[in-house]
Amino acid sequence: MLVCDSLPQSSNSVGAALLCEDGTIITGCNVENASYGLTVCAERIAIFKAVSMGYTRFTAIGIVTRDGGVPCGACRQVMREFADPKAFEVICGFIEDSKPNFIKTLDELLPESFGPENLL
Ligand code: THU
Repeated sequence: MLVCDSLPQSSNSVGAALLCEDGTIITGCNVENASYGLTVCAERIAIFKAVSMGYTRFTAIGIVTRDGGVPCGACRQVMREFADPKAFEVICGFIEDSKPNFIKTLDELLPESFGPENLL
């Protein structure tokens, strides 16, 4: 999947591939900004791209980084909005390596979570 090789602010290239309920895959990469707080993670780029295309339910996300790392808390909460946390799988791996390093459900990564059903 595509990652941005020359990020302006960090060297943390991240790629995400989001699996929609109908089997469509939507990708994303992190987009950085000189005003650091405006940077958006790869996972959220993929999710917002998908939602803007009309896909609103997701079953898994694949994430690649140089260190095989896991998604940040903000991205976990955004995933929670559009997925069943007990079924949604987060699959983390390394750039240019096909075998996953880590697979957990969103519920394991964000236990006892707040979600859209908690709104009155
Ligand atoms: N980043 C992601 O793309 N996903 C995460 O879950 C954590 C962090 C990016 C944002 C920024 O471009 C860089 O990694 C350093 O935080």
